[in-house]
Amino acid sequence: MLSKSCRKLLSFVHITDLHFSATPGVYSFIGAALSERYQAGVGIVQDFFNGRHSPEIAEIAADFIQRRLGDHDCILLTGDLATRGTQSDLQTARDYVLSPSANGTTYQTSTGRPTLSVGNRPVVLLPGNHDRFEDSKCVPGGTMFDSVFGDKWTKGPQSVQVNAVCGLDGTTINVICADFTLPSAQHADPPAFFPGQGRCIEDVVRELSRVTLASRVKYPRRGIIWVSHFPPSFPNEPVGRLLELVDSHFLLDAARNCGIKYLICGHTHRQYYVDAADIILIVGGTACMLHSSNGNWINSLRFEVNNGEADIVEFSSFEFSQEDKDFVYRP
Ligand SMILES: [Fe+2]
Repeated sequence: MLSKSCRKLLSFVHITDLHFSATPGVYSFIGAALSERYQAGVGIVQDFFNGRHSPEIAEIAADFIQRRLGDHDCILLTGDLATRGTQSDLQTARDYVLSPSANGTTYQTSTGRPTLSVGNRPVVLLPGNHDRFEDSKCVPGGTMFDSVFGDKWTKGPQSVQVNAVCGLDGTTINVICADFTLPSAQHADPPAFFPGQGRCIEDVVRELSRVTLASRVKYPRRGIIWVSHFPPSFPNEPVGRLLELVDSHFLLDAARNCGIKYLICGHTHRQYYVDAADIILIVGGTACMLHSSNGNWINSLRFEVNNGEADIVEFSSFEFSQEDKDFVYRP
């Protein structure tokens, strides 16, 4: 048994589905799409599901992360940073995630806005279905995310990106992110329906496997975890047709073939942890959404890395409490 000081540990703050909007708290996503597409219905479906972010909860989240989880090695965001794939929504999300802290120790920028970027802690992210909606419409295939977050997501649509996250003692996990967003509405099942779905395109899964096996050869001591915005369905945690990751068996088969144990996701707006023996699925819930019916969550993940194997040794979740005006630990 290694003493704690000798253990190779690496910790992540995991948040997801921020749904940032340039016009927060005005209309839901559906309301926005309807009002902008048809110029009607303003307010009719206000606060329907898939709402926009709450600036109040986002600020409290940034404060909490700095105050309580400031020692973590990395912030991991698993998609749906924005409500729509417009430049204004994506830029609003970017300002929150990546604007520099005023003095490197506070969660606020020099103009007093909240930010997650305190010090030089790395941020790993990938797009979700909302980030790839074209303009203000609920249509998949948008590419504005690649412009606004191009320094963090460098590979473009339907691609795979390897992010090496390294702790102070050199402990490293390769966080491999795969973009399973739909290239177009025609890739939904059935075609043109369910724009909230993702799809395991074989080329993307093949690339995910290729870079994983290459990573094992080149960096045998590093741990590896996989990240997808879209979780596969598990018997006790079905995702449902509306949000399904189509052909998710390709992803699960590839994970098993590559010896991947951890799959970290967002998308469903529910927070859960599934231990299916060979694969552990961690789904983050929403972080700061207005009127979230399943709460808003911040998750803390601590992995131990030994001889190329990453194993989770600590998983803690904190849910926003309106009464406390803070995130509180939920066992
Ligand atoms: Fe979402």
